[in-house]
Amino acid sequence: MANVTVIGAQWGDEGKGKIVDWLASRADAVVRFQGGHNAGHTLVIDGNVFKLSLLPSGIVSGTLSIIGNGVVLDPWALKGEIEKLESQGVTITDDNFAIADNCPLILPIHRDLDGLRETAAGSGKIGTTGRGIGPAYEDKVGRRAIRVCDLAHLDTLEPQLDRLCAHHDALRAGFDQPPVDREALLAELKEIAPFVLRFAQPVWKRLKKVRKAGAKILFEGAQGVLLDVDHGTYPFVTSSNTVSGTAASGSGLGPNSTGFVLGIVKAYTTRVGSGPFPTELDDADGQRLGERGHEFGTVTGRQRRCGWFDAVLVRQSCAISGVTGVALTKVDVLDGFDTVKICTGYRLRGKIMDYFPSHAADQAEVEPIYEEMEGWSESTAGARSYADLPANAIKYIQRVQELIETPVALVSTSPERDDTILMRDPFVD
Ligand code: IMP
Repeated sequence: MANVTVIGAQWGDEGKGKIVDWLASRADAVVRFQGGHNAGHTLVIDGNVFKLSLLPSGIVSGTLSIIGNGVVLDPWALKGEIEKLESQGVTITDDNFAIADNCPLILPIHRDLDGLRETAAGSGKIGTTGRGIGPAYEDKVGRRAIRVCDLAHLDTLEPQLDRLCAHHDALRAGFDQPPVDREALLAELKEIAPFVLRFAQPVWKRLKKVRKAGAKILFEGAQGVLLDVDHGTYPFVTSSNTVSGTAASGSGLGPNSTGFVLGIVKAYTTRVGSGPFPTELDDADGQRLGERGHEFGTVTGRQRRCGWFDAVLVRQSCAISGVTGVALTKVDVLDGFDTVKICTGYRLRGKIMDYFPSHAADQAEVEPIYEEMEGWSESTAGARSYADLPANAIKYIQRVQELIETPVALVSTSPERDDTILMRDPFVD
């Protein structure tokens, strides 16, 4: 069985969109299993740019695309994204797109709460995408969420809605906000319901059928392992589990279905939002990485923080997520640096560490220990074979591979689908 699970091995924005699109063109089904429209994937196909937040990347190439139960779904964002893609010539029907009917919804009250909390937190804010992701997951585990299947039973929703609104009214009162307008919320749900229900089904069943037929399934992770609610830089994390294990629970297939785990790794490090970042650069090198790498968020347009490659963090992510091989992206952004640095360990109050500690204060205090390597002046952009790469770029990739203790399966050298050097095919291995 040749399934592939793609996850980000840093703080998201590793360039998953291109790799997922490239794999999606060879898959029979693509499944999103966590997160929501906080994700931002940019696909460039034959010069055309497609921006996705919620829909699986397979949708652009017409591959069966599935939103699993582990996702939190904003129905209005879904409609907006589908309409935008349709205006770009993409066909989306219930033949090539399905939504898990047990998927919890993101409602306007979740977006409100996300914003109110961030504003109240001031400089202590998480720096969320403001999409209501955290509050929606809270309601899911609090067992008071409205789910996709509830949209088919709106006439009997009142007791559920009352319970949910009572909870939110209390929270809103703490922010001097009026109670939830239940009538307006119900009316909005009634209006959007038919649009969503067209695609709703028990997707575990559809996936079971797909799997039985021997199809190749691609599980598309969003964000990155360092934003995982358990394993990430807590509390500066997203509210879902972003590790590969979630591919199974977030789609309704068992852990023996997730196949080759491909960790996407950027050749340097970036992060949006607040939180610790040991190799962050506040100097001209950091600015240069940001400019050359076009490091602005797809979803919020925020400038990303940039720094050198942190091998300690990626080694940890690969271990936690059982990564089989990594896809190294944006190596070309390092072209032209006289020297490049890799973080190989940390110093914490005089002690050397070979892992990233769990406590927030320790995470904020670790100092990176760097190894310096000679850079390369030649361009790596668009290279399609290892032989096209300058010797120092090859040395850099090999050193990264050694330090993260995980093989590099492919190297991406531009946003274009075919500018990829393949060492190990995830669908075949
Ligand atoms: P939330 O997921 O909107 O709650 O945001 C929580 C944290 O995750 C913030 O630091 C966000 O910037 C970050 N985040 C969420 N989604 C992404 C993503 O797709 N790429 C990078 N960072 C993300």
